Amino acid sequence: MAILLPGGAGYIGSHTAVELLNEGKDIIILDNFSNSKPEVLDRIKKITGKDFKFYEMDYLDKESLEKVFEENKIEAVLNFAGYKAVGESVQKPLEYYHNNITGCLVLLETMKKFDVKKFIFSSSATVYGEPEKIPLTEDCKTGGTTNPYGTSKLFIEQILKDLYKSDNTWDICILRYFNPVGSHESGLIGEEPKGIPNNLMPYIARVAAGTLKELSVFGNDYDTPDGTGVRDYIHVVDLAKGHVCALNKLDKEGQGLFIYNLGTGKGYSVLDMVKAFEKATGKNVPYKIAPRRDGDIATCYADPKKAKEELNWVATKSLEDMCKDSWNYIEKNS
Ligand code: NAD
Ligand code: UFG
Repeated sequence: MAILLPGGAGYIGSHTAVELLNEGKDIIILDNFSNSKPEVLDRIKKITGKDFKFYEMDYLDKESLEKVFEENKIEAVLNFAGYKAVGESVQKPLEYYHNNITGCLVLLETMKKFDVKKFIFSSSATVYGEPEKIPLTEDCKTGGTTNPYGTSKLFIEQILKDLYKSDNTWDICILRYFNPVGSHESGLIGEEPKGIPNNLMPYIARVAAGTLKELSVFGNDYDTPDGTGVRDYIHVVDLAKGHVCALNKLDKEGQGLFIYNLGTGKGYSVLDMVKAFEKATGKNVPYKIAPRRDGDIATCYADPKKAKEELNWVATKSLEDMCKDSWNYIEKNS
């Protein structure tokens, strides 16, 4: 029995593939390389010494997707496929809703047809909108997303809740990621943003490398200790391990719809991140203070207690690991 990973060649999917293979699981990756490269597949094999099946295809292509289910015995699906650039989603809402929501619907319909009912979904802390309280617990209100990307996550969560209500033999786990950063310690896989990065850590790493001149710190007048935005940065390997724990829970207990925050529970400001990166790598990160970015909130970090209690999962990697591993990937791949 295999675990299917649509979008498994991407940043979080590739790290999760490594952890699943290390656990002895049989996996199948499906990806159209719209935001990843074929080399990733060999690198996953190199890290783990294990082989797996791969399909180059669009997960919206129902016919090809059905063939994948016909040709393989699939027990669970971890869906990483989708578009994720917040700013771009504002410019291209139809493309984002189509790829993220229609894609997920096609996947769920196909799973239903083949009676595969174990599903893990990559959601995001963005579904909380303006946080009701900090730290965020899973029962905090959701909604008030400020861009089509975030809204696509919110809608898919609702679709999954409705699906489970209609048929409680599904086993569904919604994982709300906080801010994934870092890369595998080998430096073989990592985050490969196309063009100029939107997210803080890849931007800092490119400033350190000299590819970009300086970091713009978006706002220093927030109600936070140093005035800059505070987030819960989580090492991508810790995040990947969270998926293995979620899968184990569905395997053992099953029959339910579960929601977990995957974060560290610690908040760091933009300036904390700059300082930590400089300390961990010995590189300089010049920055300037710029106006606030539309749609940003002051503070967002998780209460990760539920995942600890129910999944037996905690993030173990430090901020130093996150910075060192982000830099290691850049150094080895540029
Ligand atoms: P990514 O872009 O690196 O990976 C997504 C993968 O899906 C890519 O390999 C891409 O080629 C593939 N893909 C996209 N559309 C496809 C399609 N139609 N058919 C087949 N493959 C397709 O992104 P990531 O950072 O690994 O994110 C994975 C998931 O986690 C996404 O759903 C994302 O929204 C979610 N998420 C990411 C973050 C983050 O900061 N990285 C935070 C919260 C949630
Ligand atoms: N920031 C800067 N300069 C930059 C980039 C970011 O100052 O060049 C600041 C932001 O203003 C924010 C912090 O750094 O205060 C983090 O910003 P990111 O763009 O790295 O992350 P966000 O918290 O805005 O959003 C990310 C993902 C979303 C996801 C969310 C929660 O981009 O997709 O985390 O998981 F929904």
